[in-house]
Amino acid sequence: MSKILVVSGHTDLKNNSFANKIILGHLEKIMPDAEYVYLDSQYPDWNFDVELEQNRLRNADVIVFQFPFFWYGVPSLMHKWMEDVFVHGFSHGSKGKALVGKKFLVSFTSGAPEDLYRTGGVQGYPVDDFLIPLKQFAKACGMEWIGYVYSGGLSYASRHDDEKLNRMKAKALTHAERVAEKLRSL
Ligand SMILES: Cc1cc2nc3c(=O)[nH]c(=O)nc-3n(C[C@H](O)[C@H](O)[C@H](O)COP(=O)(O)O)c2cc1C
Repeated sequence: MSKILVVSGHTDLKNNSFANKIILGHLEKIMPDAEYVYLDSQYPDWNFDVELEQNRLRNADVIVFQFPFFWYGVPSLMHKWMEDVFVHGFSHGSKGKALVGKKFLVSFTSGAPEDLYRTGGVQGYPVDDFLIPLKQFAKACGMEWIGYVYSGGLSYASRHDDEKLNRMKAKALTHAERVAEKLRSL
């Protein structure tokens, strides 16, 4: 069976997350055999144990990035983790072959609803366009891009409206089910 590593890039899952907290909580329940790494709680000082992180990646067959869209990409915490851990000689370069052939799945949420992500829409571009750097990141590391699971409309501003909150909760649970379905199909 494939070894799955899920890395949470939220900057404050405990105090300042609604959707990612539900997604990860549900995923842990329905996919208990995967390994879960919470960058915010494990590294409150953002000082990563690079060797540990590289070993986790090395041991995985499937790597999942779980994060909220923060300014159209991964949160700063996750970006720093990428910068520190995915280094020349490990993930890329003539001797950096540790991740070759691993499958890479991106799972993310956004505040803006899905339909605003289209050419000429409020968000300017289809959501896929914002994933180009991650696609190329996977390619540069020799990983196989297996697509993404995305849910929009999980808005920070709606957290105090009960009806919207219930809808967002259902959507976050469904998101986790979609991730699990994708992973089980591999
Ligand atoms: C710093 C910051 C930047 C954000 N940038 C975006 C963005 O670029 N596009 C978007 O649709 N939502 C954006 N949002 C909204 C988040 O994506 C949304 O609140 C998150 O996906 C919900 O997940 P959570 O409840 O786990 O935090 C941003 C929120 C914050 C706090």
